[in-house]
Amino acid sequence: MSDVAKLEIDGKIFELPIVTGSENERGIDISALRAATGLITLDDGYGNTGSCRSAITYIDGDAGILRYRGYPIEQLAQKSSFVEVAQLLIWGELPTTTERNQFGQMLTDNAALPWDMRRHFDGFPTDAHPMAILSAMINALESYDLKNLHPTNQEEFALAAASLMSKVRTIAAASYKSHIGQPIVWPRPDMKYVENFLHMMFTVPYNDYVPTPEVSHALNLLLVLHADHEQNCSTSTVRMVASGQANLYASVAAGVCALWGPLHGGANMAVVEMLEQIKASGITTKQFVDKVKNREDGVKLMGFGHRVYRNFDPRAKIIKEAADSLLDSLHITDPMLDLARELEAVALEDEYFVSRKLYPNVDFYSGIILRAIGIPMDMFTVMFAMGRMPGWIANWKELHETPGQRIYRPRQIYTGATERAWVPRKERRR
Ligand code: SDX
Repeated sequence: MSDVAKLEIDGKIFELPIVTGSENERGIDISALRAATGLITLDDGYGNTGSCRSAITYIDGDAGILRYRGYPIEQLAQKSSFVEVAQLLIWGELPTTTERNQFGQMLTDNAALPWDMRRHFDGFPTDAHPMAILSAMINALESYDLKNLHPTNQEEFALAAASLMSKVRTIAAASYKSHIGQPIVWPRPDMKYVENFLHMMFTVPYNDYVPTPEVSHALNLLLVLHADHEQNCSTSTVRMVASGQANLYASVAAGVCALWGPLHGGANMAVVEMLEQIKASGITTKQFVDKVKNREDGVKLMGFGHRVYRNFDPRAKIIKEAADSLLDSLHITDPMLDLARELEAVALEDEYFVSRKLYPNVDFYSGIILRAIGIPMDMFTVMFAMGRMPGWIANWKELHETPGQRIYRPRQIYTGATERAWVPRKERRR
């Protein structure tokens, strides 16, 4: 195969190098295009544009493949804890026992929020969105943690990574407790990552919450499945902010804001809202699917479709099975799960979805598990952010380790008014 692409513009041929990745993905390197031709490319939504070279996560959207640092998501979901997966993503290798114990201790040592920060929660209205609180508190954390973290200082970076990984739980749980008017519960040094979060969420002064192994396993699995996903909207935002050499906390806080929207991390909450609306309206799943196909009021089948996966999202398959087994272990049934299954079956047989290669994505079933655990719906996207934290941190680190890394600064095609002279207000007409 050729390693050069030829582009003809106004009768002149330009040659552009073709780069090939370790999985034989090929891309046209256009970094010299404007200097050579005076033209730029245009790619609304970046569907055809690679922003970087990365060794963290590989996705094959046609084959439904997802690997973190070369390990298939199916194996990691079955065999690894979320903390181990975080170390794999951030430092590139599955941790040895010593490395795992060292990082585990750093998470324990950095779980509690600085004492002064507890008052920050009082400053938010009780109905403040948890994602607003999370992004604000992550930014505030920088003022207490490491000032001016130097990206190449490995020890400082590891401490900041542990602080963010650990405190994202404490912030999330504290925002929930503040929201429901209960006292903030502090982390315990004797608890594992997921159990400690659930303890901070659901323990009350008169009753310690101890999650069942099945609940802990299900949440650990969800976090593993959300840990990274190539250059998605929020990770690209983290890299954009990092490229200007903003600190890790500011970059991650920007990622939280990018994740918030219903087309991205907010979809897990939008799926459950959609299911509840279908149930409340009394319409059939077929009638709802027809509304989607007719684009009534811009309604979409939330939790379906993906920019990269043109096949099943491998995470959706795993989550669907996990939802089944968790509900069985808790001896509960959730009518939303039955409705979701029915909706999936109707959609997957409908030409509108099949022709557009629209399949369930990571968000279609994740809300079912979060509901079963007792996580309130407005915290579903916070859970996504907790899972994605290691991916954001890993991408921040990789960007700073890229030789000659430049600030991200895309161009545009201007379509506004051509030059015109200023006029005094009394002469302006509409
Ligand atoms: C995540 O990028 C990542 O990796 C993200 C993520 C991660 O881990 O970081 O995987 C997490 O964000 C998953 C996606 C969660 N969002 C949703 O479930 C929201 C519903 N999905 C859609 O909004 C949409 O599918 C997107 C946003 C996910 C993808 O949008 P694209 O790639 O821009 O696709 P598109 O809007 O161009 O759609 C192509 C066609 C259109 O129809 P036509 O105009 O060609 O006739 O498919 C239709 C769309 O109208 N379509 C849908 C649909 N998704 C796409 N129609 C109905 N329901 C949908 N969900």
